[in-house]
Amino acid sequence: MAILLTGGAGYIGSHTAIELLNKGREIVIIDDFSNSNEKVLENIKKITNKDFKFYQIDYKDREQLEKVFEENKIDSVINFAGFKAVGESVQKPLEYYFNNVSGAIILLDTMRKYDCKKFIFSSSATVYGNPERVPITENSRVGGTTNPYGTTKLMIEKILEDLYKSDNTWDICVLRYFNPVGSHESGLIGEEPKGIPNNLMPYIVRVASGELEQLSVFGNDYETPDGTGVRDYIHVVDLSIGHVKALEKLEKEGQGLYIYNLGTGTGYSVLDMVHTFEKATGQKVNYKIAPRRPGDIAACYADPTKAKEELGWVAEKNLEDMCKDSWNYIQTVQRR
Ligand code: WQD
Repeated sequence: MAILLTGGAGYIGSHTAIELLNKGREIVIIDDFSNSNEKVLENIKKITNKDFKFYQIDYKDREQLEKVFEENKIDSVINFAGFKAVGESVQKPLEYYFNNVSGAIILLDTMRKYDCKKFIFSSSATVYGNPERVPITENSRVGGTTNPYGTTKLMIEKILEDLYKSDNTWDICVLRYFNPVGSHESGLIGEEPKGIPNNLMPYIVRVASGELEQLSVFGNDYETPDGTGVRDYIHVVDLSIGHVKALEKLEKEGQGLYIYNLGTGTGYSVLDMVHTFEKATGQKVNYKIAPRRPGDIAACYADPTKAKEELGWVAEKNLEDMCKDSWNYIQTVQRR
């Protein structure tokens, strides 16, 4: 029985592929390389010394997707095939709703046709909008998303809720990621945002390497300990292990719709990040204080207790590991 990873060549998909292969699981990856490339697949094989089946297809292409289900015994699906750039989603809302929401519907409908009903979905802390309070538990109010990307995540969560209500033979797990950073320790795979990055860690590493001149710290007048924005950064390897644990829960217990926050439970400010990065890597990060970025909130971090109690999962890597591994990856990229 195989696990299908849609978007499995992407940042979080590829790291999860490694964790599953290391556990001796059989996987099938589909990806259209819209935000990844073939090299990632070779590197997954290099790191794990294991092989897997791959199809270069768009997950919205129902005919091709059915072929994957015909040719393999797919028992569960982890859906990583989403567009994820907040700014781009504002410019291209139709593309985002079509790829993320319509894509998820096509995927779920195809799964139903093949009686495959174990589904893990990559959601985001963004569904909490501006949180009522921190740390955020899974029972916190959702809604008030401020961009199409976040709204697609919320819509798919709703679709999954309704699907489960209509047919409780589905086993569904929604994972709400906080701020994934870092890379596999090999430095062979990692995140490669196209163009100038929007997210903090990819920006910091490019300033440290000299590719970008200076980091703008967006606001130092928030109600946080040092005035800069606070987030829950989580190492991508910890996050990937969270998927393995979620799958094991569905396989053992099943028949339910579960929602988990995947975060460390600790919030760090932008300046904490800059200083920890400098300490962990010995590199200087040139920065200036700039105005707040529209749409940003002061603080967002998880209460990860539910994942600990029900999945037996806790994030183990610290901020230094995240900084070191992000730095290690950008150096291998720049050596290419
Ligand atoms: C973190 C902090 C910024 C860049 C976004 C999405 C979310 C999820 C993760 C997933 C904030 C500050 C940033 C910079 C800065 N998306 N910052 N200078 O906004 O928490 O979450 O990414 O795929 O849905 O909204 O992450 O990394 O952009 O920002 O000062 O150049 O760093 O203001 O406080 P964010 P981020």
